[in-house]
Amino acid sequence: MKLDHIGIAVKSIEASLRIWRDMLGLDLVEIKEVPLHGVKIAVLHLGNTNIELLEPLGEQSAVLKSIKDRGEGLHHICFEVDDIAVALKKLKENGIKLIDEMPRKGAEAGKVAFIHPRDMGGVLIELCQY
Ligand code: CO
Repeated sequence: MKLDHIGIAVKSIEASLRIWRDMLGLDLVEIKEVPLHGVKIAVLHLGNTNIELLEPLGEQSAVLKSIKDRGEGLHHICFEVDDIAVALKKLKENGIKLIDEMPRKGAEAGKVAFIHPRDMGGVLIELCQY
């Protein structure tokens, strides 16, 4: 397992890049819109992981809801696993609350699934498998 990326909810990617890229010096890899997930994503490279700035896209955006409820900030942490189905099965068998019981198509990785923050120290966790 490895840390794939850290997702941070922001109101404006453009404004946030002034800090993350221009002041902290992270390399901007790409900016892309993923309408399926209601998000515009700026991927910044950092060591052997990525920081993803997540800007709401559309009124149904989960990121928009997150910003309305909690403001900008840490949205989720994503771990890459070898076999996402096996990982989900193990978590479910141990009573961990899942958001996605089945993997779904990810913005970058082939398959992703989210684990509810309730059992994860209040942090939304994403699993991905490339
Ligand atoms: Co993510």
